Amino acid sequence: MPQTSHDRLLIIDFGSQVTQLIARRLRELNVYCEIHPFQTVTPEFLKVFAPRAVIFSGGPASVFADGAPMPPPEVFGLGVPILGICYGQQVMMQMLGGHVERGHGTAEFGRAYVTPTSQRIDLLEGWFAETREQVWMSHGDHVSRIAPGFEVFGISPNAPCAIVADDSRRFYGLQFHPEVHHTPNGARIYENFVRLAGFKGDWTMEAYRAEAIARIRAQVGDAKVICGLSGGVDSSVAAVLIHEAIGDQLTCVFVDHGLLREGEAEQVVTMFRDHYNMPLIHANEQELFLGALDGVSDPETKRKIIGGLFIDVFQKHAGEVGGAAFLAQGTLYPDVIESVSFSGGPSVTIKSHHNVGGLPEKMGLKLVEPLRELFKDEVRALGHELGLPEAFIGRHPFPGPGLAIRCPGEITREKLAILRRADAVFIDQIRRHGLYDEIWQAFVAILPVRTVGVMGDGRTYDFACALRAVTSVDGMTADYYPFSHDFLGETATRIINEVPGINRVTYDITSKPPGTIEWE
Ligand code: XMP
Repeated sequence: MPQTSHDRLLIIDFGSQVTQLIARRLRELNVYCEIHPFQTVTPEFLKVFAPRAVIFSGGPASVFADGAPMPPPEVFGLGVPILGICYGQQVMMQMLGGHVERGHGTAEFGRAYVTPTSQRIDLLEGWFAETREQVWMSHGDHVSRIAPGFEVFGISPNAPCAIVADDSRRFYGLQFHPEVHHTPNGARIYENFVRLAGFKGDWTMEAYRAEAIARIRAQVGDAKVICGLSGGVDSSVAAVLIHEAIGDQLTCVFVDHGLLREGEAEQVVTMFRDHYNMPLIHANEQELFLGALDGVSDPETKRKIIGGLFIDVFQKHAGEVGGAAFLAQGTLYPDVIESVSFSGGPSVTIKSHHNVGGLPEKMGLKLVEPLRELFKDEVRALGHELGLPEAFIGRHPFPGPGLAIRCPGEITREKLAILRRADAVFIDQIRRHGLYDEIWQAFVAILPVRTVGVMGDGRTYDFACALRAVTSVDGMTADYYPFSHDFLGETATRIINEVPGINRVTYDITSKPPGTIEWE
């Protein structure tokens, strides 16, 4: 249930791949919204949630399918504006007395153009200035007869009812997806929809911060909280927010496994302990981790060893806090959105690395997750609001197993030291050229091979390394960054000159898929 005093918009999810984008568009308009799968939206739920407006997402089903996903009919009696998108439009028409036709040869996928048919309505303010609008369609079935009370306001070649509305009841249906980039003017529709629904646009980070602090205080009371700090943006923002709420009732544990980048442990400790005056346990466990990894070259074994030791070490140090009742985690909204599963009930997807490996159950701890409602860029905005340094907030993601998975084959201290230097030079190059913020993630991997070179008058026999830099939206897919040849040449020269132990530099131009971002 929503824990906000702001006006709420409910997105009923019918399983579209792009439902999260609807939420993004709304959050950009400072509107608070939540996505809930259709199976969980009962009449009771609607009463408690009390939305100011409702959006039906798209979805892969057909209204003709047995057990086709439906919202509860009570939603139409709430007296609030409803916007149905794609499948959401079809289900709205079907339930209100219209007709949907199977897509025999009339399917429309990709770019299409919608032209207006009728006089203007508020939902379409700012649309059709150029007589037609480019939209992104993805449908097989289409609405062939609109429900009583509705009118058609836009058509496309294969969707005779591309835009329909019953303006008096404020019910709207679109056959296309206004939330995607390929509907260039789509954001305008969301803007118009929330305006006509009466949202004030007051879901700001400043308001969120104050609300979140009050919520943390109410949840925790005078109990103690521990937080695993990785130095990443999510756990850092969570820690600073919780510290602001409950002060020294919070203790952070930072586990240094010896697989961090150059200067990283010092940066994290200096910032949190010295700058924020936060109780912080700096667990220097390099010997333990590196000892356990000695001679191990299989990537999955490396991950298992690191994950297992991390839990042991965290538990050991958390015990020093004494009587902690809560564990803080930087879980984000995309990790907790219940995804629609047509084979069974809704399932909750939580990325395993966000969950400190079953610790809460093992240690009898309850969870504090103050970022559960936020997307990544909102966490960054909250970080700004809390005064975290810019350089920290914009940092590239760094994996839990750290440099271990950037050192294919056996991990040695010698290789780690070389890798740290090379990585620092590469990142420095990227920053100097002003490219850091354009890149999702960049790093060096040290290869398990020595190659022959010549430097000065001498022969060298040193390690080869690979540079990796990718663009991505969420890390799920990625493309290599198109550096100029000058940049690559300059970087290779610097690494070979400044990093003893490397005599050959390569650039990894594999996309994901088929590659992964990390080398292991
Ligand atoms: P891949 O290599 O799977 O990486 O394309 C996608 C994103 O996830 C990060 N990554 C990890 N993060 N624990 C983490 O916390 C891990 O074991 C792990 N493996 C990969 C990777 O850095 C990239 O951002």
